[in-house]
Amino acid sequence: MLVLGIETSCDDTAAAVVRRSEDGACQILSNEVWAQHEDHAAFGGVVPEIAARSHVERLDGTIERAVTKAGVSFAELDAVAATAGPGLVGGVLVGLTTAKAVAMAHGLRLVPLNHLEGHALSARMTEDAPFPYLLLLISGGHTQLIRVLGVGKYDRLGTTIDDAAGESFDKTAKLLGLGAPGGPRVESAAVGGRADRFDLPRPLLKHAGCDFSFSGLKTAVREAAESLDNPRGQDIADLAASFQDAAARHLAQRTEKAMAMMPEAGRLVVAGGVAANCAIKKMLQQLCAANFWKLIVPPPKYCTDNGAMIAWAGAERLAAGLAMPQEEAMGLAPRARWPLADPGEGKRFGSGRKGPKA
Ligand code: KG4
Ligand code: ZN
Repeated sequence: MLVLGIETSCDDTAAAVVRRSEDGACQILSNEVWAQHEDHAAFGGVVPEIAARSHVERLDGTIERAVTKAGVSFAELDAVAATAGPGLVGGVLVGLTTAKAVAMAHGLRLVPLNHLEGHALSARMTEDAPFPYLLLLISGGHTQLIRVLGVGKYDRLGTTIDDAAGESFDKTAKLLGLGAPGGPRVESAAVGGRADRFDLPRPLLKHAGCDFSFSGLKTAVREAAESLDNPRGQDIADLAASFQDAAARHLAQRTEKAMAMMPEAGRLVVAGGVAANCAIKKMLQQLCAANFWKLIVPPPKYCTDNGAMIAWAGAERLAAGLAMPQEEAMGLAPRARWPLADPGEGKRFGSGRKGPKA
């Protein structure tokens, strides 16, 4: 099965072609990502309107390169999969509409997908990751612990009640004057820093369950920075190291609770851009070793937003007979908010016209 995947939910314009064999093996034939960092750099964060316009300008070329590099023609494809939410709705609209056009022009199946499902299944492209497993999704927009039981079978165990993990790295980088992209800048600044210099809080330590909270940590870093007279050099390194250590401990502590909620899994899969962080990986490795679990972290290019994971999730859905009927897919509207697994009444965070925020 040959699937084209399109991803435009945030600031990466991405397209890829993936082949799924009948035995479930995956071959990534191309994986094109156009990162928009420079378009947003002057504004200190992703500007939704600029992101949507950049997707409009670059998506056609990105798809063309993905198909050409894969060495296939549109006629050979079986389906086109695209992120239909959650995300910045302007960008999602561009990707989904383009996918509909490609599907219509070439007579292909259209598979609209939840972006989080792309992350949830991405490890299965390159790693030996049979179901069930525990997924720790840590990206710029999401921080979730999900019980992954099979394709389309997700059970959310925990989520953030305020900032996402990557967002807290980005805000800390901004606060320390490190610039963008925040996560890698904080990680580099932390090299040579003393993680025990600042006594930062341990969020939700006494709370049951495995939800996350990062906003208190961010405030504590700001207060620690303000307590210093013009922090520079070693101060910045110590602040970055202290923050990174506190964030890693928080992630590991909540993950340990989720592991206890599904002891039969024995496998922890980590996805999302923050999974690239070595200090976090090290702490999760220690946690897994202590519990005799296997830690699975795909290569960074498949952890961050990419088209291959969308193509792959589309192929997995088609193979499992779980793809949306074509007519419904072609009529689907993009969704800014779309929880992967509905936690049920009373457990949702945030509200609004478009549904719960998380
Ligand atoms: O998965 P991703 O590419 O996009 C989203 O879906 O959000 O994740 C991007 C996030 C950003 O917040 C970025 O700062 C963070 O991942 N990130 C990192 C590192 N590399 C990327 N955070 C910590 N350490 C890193 N090395
Ligand atoms: Zn993502």
